[in-house]
Amino acid sequence: MDRETLTQAIRELKRERKAVILAHSYQRPEVQEVADFVGDSLGLAREAQRTKAEVIVFAGVHFMAETAAILNPEKTVLLPDIEAGCSLADSIRPEDVLAWKEAHPEGLVVAYVNTKAEVKALADVCVTSANAVEVVAALPKDRPIFFVPDMFLGAHVARVTGRRLDLFPGECHVHAGIREEHLRALLEAHPEAEFMIHPECGCGSSCLYLKPDAKMLSTEGMVRYAKKAAHSTFVVATEVGILHRLEKEAPNKRFIPVKPDAVCEYMKRITLEKVYLSLKEMRHAVRVPEEVAEKARKALSAMVAVG
Ligand code: 13P
Ligand code: SF4
Repeated sequence: MDRETLTQAIRELKRERKAVILAHSYQRPEVQEVADFVGDSLGLAREAQRTKAEVIVFAGVHFMAETAAILNPEKTVLLPDIEAGCSLADSIRPEDVLAWKEAHPEGLVVAYVNTKAEVKALADVCVTSANAVEVVAALPKDRPIFFVPDMFLGAHVARVTGRRLDLFPGECHVHAGIREEHLRALLEAHPEAEFMIHPECGCGSSCLYLKPDAKMLSTEGMVRYAKKAAHSTFVVATEVGILHRLEKEAPNKRFIPVKPDAVCEYMKRITLEKVYLSLKEMRHAVRVPEEVAEKARKALSAMVAVG
C-alpha cells in the first residue's frame, strides 16, 4: 500500500477501534502526521492518562507504552513494534536501585521516565526532561537523592538546583554521541544562532563555557521556544526527528541539527505499515503486572502533576 492508502486505512481502523494514536516527536514524519497527538514524554503521559479512547496506539518506544498502560490501566495500549526499546531504559536494573536504597535507607529515588516499569516501581518520583528541575528542587533538602539513569540529565538538574545528587552512570547512546566537538563546529559556523540542547546530550556541560546562553530544553520545550523566540536560526542538539515538528510549527525559521546522524533506531522502528497492522490485528498489547503498576503509578502520578 502507498502512503496515502495506508494513512486512509489507519484513519478508518482508528474510528472502528475507537482508538487514538499518540506519537513522540522523534517519530517518522508520516507517523507524526497520522497521529492525534504528538509531543514529548510528559505531554504523551498526560494525554494517555486523560484520553477517552478505548485503544491507545503508542508510536514511540516501550517505556512510553508501559507508562500509558500504568496511567490508564483500563485501556488497551498497543506498541506497533515490540522491539522498539531504549538504550537508556536498558542501562539500569532494579538491583541497581535496590543496592543504593540498602546503603541509603533514608534516601529518595528519582527515576527519569526513560526506565522500565520495575525500576519506576522502586522510585519515589518520576520525572521527564520537561520537569526534572522543578521536581528535584521541591524534594526535602535533608535526604540523599539517587537520580537514575541518565547521568547527563542528572548533572544538569544538580547544576540548576544546586542539589547534591548521586548519579547512576546511564546514558542514551544517541544523545551521549552529541559531543563538545559537534557543538564547537556549529558555534563557529553559526555564531548568530540560538542553541537548543536536550539535557540528555553529552555536550550538555560544555555549553556552560562554550555557549552559556544556550537553552536546555525537552523536545516540547524546543518547539514552544522556537515558535516564540525572536531568532531566525536555531541549532538543535537532539534526535533529528524533532526537525519535522520544528519546521512544521515554526515554518519561517531555520533549524540546523548539531549532529545530522543523531537518529534513534528504536524510534524509527515504528513505520506507517506497522501502525496499520497494529490497529488491524490489535498488536502488540503492552501490559504491566498490577503489583508493579500500582507502585510505579504513585511515582508517575507525582510526575504528571508537575510542570
Ligand atoms: P522528551 O521528549 O521528553 O524531551 O525526551 C526525549 C527522549 O529521549 C525520549 O526518548
Ligand atoms: Fe531511548 Fe535515546 Fe532513543 Fe530516547 S533517543 S528512546 S532515550 S535510545
